[in-house]
Amino acid sequence: MNIKAEISKRTEEINDILEHYLPKEEGYPKTVLEAMNYSIHAGGKRIRPMLMKETYELFGGSEDVVHPFMAAMEMIHTYSLVHDDLPAMDNDMLRRGKPTTHAVYGEAMGILCGDALLNYAYETATLAFDKTDDAEVLAHIIPKALRILSVKAGIYGMVGGQVADVEAEKMGLSLDEDKLRYIIDNKTGALIESSMMIGAILAGASCDTLQKIETIANNVGVAFQIQDDILDVIGDEAVLGKPIGSDERNEKPTYVVLHGLEASKEKVKSLTEEAVDILKGFEGDTSFLEEFLMYLVYREK
Ligand code: IPE
Ligand code: IPE
Ligand code: MG
Ligand code: MG
Ligand code: MG
Repeated sequence: MNIKAEISKRTEEINDILEHYLPKEEGYPKTVLEAMNYSIHAGGKRIRPMLMKETYELFGGSEDVVHPFMAAMEMIHTYSLVHDDLPAMDNDMLRRGKPTTHAVYGEAMGILCGDALLNYAYETATLAFDKTDDAEVLAHIIPKALRILSVKAGIYGMVGGQVADVEAEKMGLSLDEDKLRYIIDNKTGALIESSMMIGAILAGASCDTLQKIETIANNVGVAFQIQDDILDVIGDEAVLGKPIGSDERNEKPTYVVLHGLEASKEKVKSLTEEAVDILKGFEGDTSFLEEFLMYLVYREK
């Protein structure tokens, strides 16, 4: 399998789906609508909608009810980045190879753009109700997916992780392993868990399967953040599309700070191998997902 070609084919499909759900730039709030589209059009690897769609298809899903959720997930993720880059948070000026949203539109519009993307994500996700006539899907499956979407993005998920991340600044080596893991599980793990779980839920997966998917996705999310921390130290800004050394500048005690580069690389690999092992236990065709997860271990952006 030419994994790079398979990934770009899927990225293009996702970009087409996203395009369909983006807001029109019109009316009095035009500036913020432009900022929303700017932050999404800037690019990004689209790994969350990709994982969602692949998981949906793995469990037999083939309808477009997943599309509004894919777009919603990328909107929530993008909002988290727009706010993460604000001066009061990581204070970064480059994202997805372009000036950050607040750098272009100002801080107030940066804040409002994040608020707008978050709310628009839920507006978008509810469009899933228009995609089916299936009573079970309408009454139970879509509401369950909406619940996961909201819980994992909020204070018991991504937002909770960001709070602990900000408060851990300057703690250095006094940050304990438990809190570090809380930060990673939530700021990054939660949206990746949500993505794969929503894919599984929409395809009608059982509770037992859903639990396995949550475990796989947690491993993937934690590995993804540790690799992000590694790239913050040894990455190439031109390839990465965001600043190198942001964590050091903000005195963030990352996994790399606490364990060193070599142990961090090992951890990314072992977490991913564990995830792939569980994935192999499923009946459907897991070949793309397996290769994709291993590809992420060695990613440079
Ligand atoms: C960046 O996420 C933030 C983290 C959780 C590490 P991505 O690396 O998925 O960012 P984009 O979407 O490709 O820009
Ligand atoms: C971000 O972690 C996680 C989010 C929820 C946005 P980072 O602060 O390390 O992400 P980057 O490196 O800025 O993309
Ligand atoms: Mg951050
Ligand atoms: Mg950041
Ligand atoms: Mg980072």
